[in-house]
Amino acid sequence: MENRIVVMGGRPLNGAVRIPAAKNSVLPLLAASMLCGDVRLRAVPRLSDVAASLALLRGAGCAARWEGEDILVSGTPQNSSLPGQTAEQMRASILFCAPLLAKLGRAETSLPGGCNIGARPIDLHLAGLRQMGAVEWEAGPGRLVLTAPSGLHGAEITLRFPSVGATETLVLAAACARGTTVLRGAAREPEIADLAAFLNRCGAHIQGAGSSTLYIEGRRNLSGCVFSPLPDRIFASTLACAVAAAGGRAELSGCPASLYAPVLEILEQMGCRVEKGGDSVRLSRFGRLYGAGRVFTGVYPALATDAAPLLAAAMLCAEGESSIEDVIFERRFGCAAGFERLGAKVQVNGRTLCIRPGGVLRGTELAAPDLRGGAALVVAALAASGTSVIGHPEHIDRGYAAFTEILSSLGAQIRREERSRNPSAKKTSSKKQNHLAIGTKRWYDTVI
Ligand code: EPZ
Repeated sequence: MENRIVVMGGRPLNGAVRIPAAKNSVLPLLAASMLCGDVRLRAVPRLSDVAASLALLRGAGCAARWEGEDILVSGTPQNSSLPGQTAEQMRASILFCAPLLAKLGRAETSLPGGCNIGARPIDLHLAGLRQMGAVEWEAGPGRLVLTAPSGLHGAEITLRFPSVGATETLVLAAACARGTTVLRGAAREPEIADLAAFLNRCGAHIQGAGSSTLYIEGRRNLSGCVFSPLPDRIFASTLACAVAAAGGRAELSGCPASLYAPVLEILEQMGCRVEKGGDSVRLSRFGRLYGAGRVFTGVYPALATDAAPLLAAAMLCAEGESSIEDVIFERRFGCAAGFERLGAKVQVNGRTLCIRPGGVLRGTELAAPDLRGGAALVVAALAASGTSVIGHPEHIDRGYAAFTEILSSLGAQIRREERSRNPSAKKTSSKKQNHLAIGTKRWYDTVI
């Protein structure tokens, strides 16, 4: 069976959405739970990356299960080898190594997978762990084996680049290491502060999270806790860009504007109306969209690299020129080919996506290239006239739970469908659908 998303574009969005917890906070928190006692994470979105993380926890010998919307993790790891196939599926699997090293003195895994948006090395993770007493062993292609024969000890570490993942790895390694770790050049993303808040609630001693220098005093044992991960600023950015692209008005609650301020500022400059209040944002666009000119991503608090494809989808609908340069990942705009198929006037020059006005967006067949690129194609399809079909939605499922349901609740004509790969079955289904009397034809019976 082939899974796909079908969108009938051209309708404005209207309604209210409560923003779910952030994938990029939940995943490090699940890794951190291996260091702690009984943990309850509240209101976790059902993402495929979350399912993969639970499989890694179980593979390590922890008990991990859903209880309603919450995830419960208990028990300390018994097995230092992570299930390789699962680890290959996502980038965040590397985060599970430091807790295994801390608890068992050994970690074995497959080199992490993740979106094909760039090289995605782990040298910064490994260099910091080596400074804390870890040893890397020859493990064959695609495999990683680390040991800490004398346990992990504190160190003074400076990251040459504020890598989010490397910062998380070293916080996880330092939380229970012997002595104090000073981590300079650390990432300042909100997800780092969320990880520190979680660990501190379990008895860790981490100071400076959110700044570029962290001070971590290792603790032998950590307790458990109940914790609500921070809201997903990229999910909020996605919906904001969808309203900008399709037009209409939405209230996004449960995620303070400050977490995605650069996105909102650019959308406002492009002609959207943005009203901020407490942890809600009301965003509307009823008139023209103007080009944004030259836009750059950067490390937090600059424009998030993950939001770049979503912002680009909104820029396709603008009456002026825009460009986005992603300084973080070298292949961020895999969605450009899909934008072009929709009729947009786009060009990728290295790390920069250039968008010219005048493209008329018409529905067509598309394929999600990666997580944020796939979501960006859905956003662009909402603004296109006619029906689009987006294949490989499994990329989108990694970071967006109930994506089509949420967009549908805002008035989008969008649905998921499974189709047989068997061509004869396809002919039958389209023949059957074409027999519908005119007038009763449903919007999604226009099969491409
Ligand atoms: C995290 O990835 C996020 N993933 C990414 O979100 C996000 O795009 C990225 O941070 C930047 O904000 C998760 O949190 C699970 P990095 P990560 O280490 O940790 C280079 C999404 O769509 N680098 O900050 O992999 C690297 O090549 C995903 O939700 C090294 O050179 O990002 C890249 O150019 C995509 N050596 C830059 O740093 C290293 O050891 C940023 O990577 C590590 C990274």
